[in-house]
Amino acid sequence: MRITYFGHSAFQLDDGTKTVLIDPFLSENPAATVTPESLSPQTILLTHAHNDHVGDTVAIAKRSGATVIATFELATYLGRQGITTIAANHGGTVPFAGGTVKLTPAWHTSSYSVAEEFLAPGIPAGLVIRFGGKTVYAAGDTCLFGDMALIGEEGLDAAILPIGDTFTMGPADAAKAARLLRAGVVIPCHYDTFPGIQQNTAAFATMVGEQCDSAVVALRPNEVHDL
Ligand code: NI
Ligand code: MN
Repeated sequence: MRITYFGHSAFQLDDGTKTVLIDPFLSENPAATVTPESLSPQTILLTHAHNDHVGDTVAIAKRSGATVIATFELATYLGRQGITTIAANHGGTVPFAGGTVKLTPAWHTSSYSVAEEFLAPGIPAGLVIRFGGKTVYAAGDTCLFGDMALIGEEGLDAAILPIGDTFTMGPADAAKAARLLRAGVVIPCHYDTFPGIQQNTAAFATMVGEQCDSAVVALRPNEVHDL
């Protein structure tokens, strides 16, 4: 199963026949070089409503016919814009083309900015994704929390963790998260996109090495990792 990073928190999972996008923030993403028009997923998974995560979801889903899976209020809000959605919530597992996703808690906020207003469609989530014979946890935007140890019991091949600090956990807490999650591979995200979230991935890898045996794979935008 192939993981491609597009910068910030945007990833593609590819099992050779189907593709899944996670938080496809592309056209406004300073780190992304792929265009939304170049991607045709069957499924889009969203962690929360913040604009740097919903990103180009509606345009991609309208063109590709992808099904969007998100927490109830966000899925319902996006569904009213003429795309196919599946609403779920923490603890729930739903199937998609080629896999399943279980929504987990994440400690964060989940507003969506439209013009001068903030809507509040739903609560943030993490994603335990079973796809292509692998299990991947995308933490979404969150702080460190102790129940990550329970998520680790899912048997994770990879954990995608924010390390940017300011809006999410920073590297030291993400390294503690890695210890609780016990994933084979830790892939950092949500750093270096904007001012305020600059991080050194080599320093992060050292911190993880002091906590656990997980391998840190820091991908540059458009870089691929085969799980
Ligand atoms: Ni956020
Ligand atoms: Mn974010």
